[in-house]
Amino acid sequence: MQTATTLEVLRSAVAALRGEGKRLALVPTMGALHEGHLTLVREARQHADAVAVSIFVNPKQFGPNEDLDAYPRRMAADSALLEGEGVELLWAPTVEAMYPGGFATNVSVTGVSEGLCGASRPGHFDGVATVVLKLFNQVGPDLALFGEKDWQQLAVIRRMARDLDLTLPHVDAIIGVPTVREADGLALSSRNQYLSPEARAQAAALPQAMRETIAALRAGSAVAPTLATLEAHLLQAGFDSVDYATLADASSLVSLDALGDTPARLLVAARIGGTRLIDNMAVE
Ligand code: PAF
Repeated sequence: MQTATTLEVLRSAVAALRGEGKRLALVPTMGALHEGHLTLVREARQHADAVAVSIFVNPKQFGPNEDLDAYPRRMAADSALLEGEGVELLWAPTVEAMYPGGFATNVSVTGVSEGLCGASRPGHFDGVATVVLKLFNQVGPDLALFGEKDWQQLAVIRRMARDLDLTLPHVDAIIGVPTVREADGLALSSRNQYLSPEARAQAAALPQAMRETIAALRAGSAVAPTLATLEAHLLQAGFDSVDYATLADASSLVSLDALGDTPARLLVAARIGGTRLIDNMAVE
């Protein structure tokens, strides 16, 4: 695996892979890699001849009171994991390489980025869209893979790709990969490590309550009271607060007050022991 920390080295590594006629997949990450990321890498291999992974803790997507400084950074361990997966290229730029002095551009995707996590994390999705567009331009992949766990992020990136005509010539496909879960159903996340053992045990109530909610909705229960029951269940189980529990159209993320003909998604963000967990599941 070649590791590039400057754009110059990255571009010559990509050119070498392209020179061999390789179809290139990109897996963007912020490091602290877990099985969910490695699943993305393995899926990438199914679609491409070579896999590039980026590791960059993007300051632009963290709010002033968020966990940028505390966010886990484990480059040596991450690099070893990627070597083990046979990844061809690791792109690990510094903040200065990504955002040189004078950097002044912001990519803002309206609509789909505004509710849900966008409501409580102002600027977060601008930061995501800006860095992902830069990563696409830097690596020039044929396709890119993202976890479905960040469903709103995936919707924002797909919207940006459509709006900015990114599907040609560089990015043929933005592939969403299903969430990887622990045995008790908790979605894997780099932030799970912040949970105390007690909070970690209580956190399993989130996917469990979501499954019960989906079963109730499918059985015909009214949306608003069913979501209220979900929130109450989480608070009883030890969660400190629920940022949102929403039924939404799976692609526009417009909230729904009834199931209809188009795919719907249940999306939840809730806080436990100082950690904010998000999850989402298909309803139909
Ligand atoms: O999902 C993430 O890890 C990040 O939001 C991403 C897509 C790598 C952009 O920084």
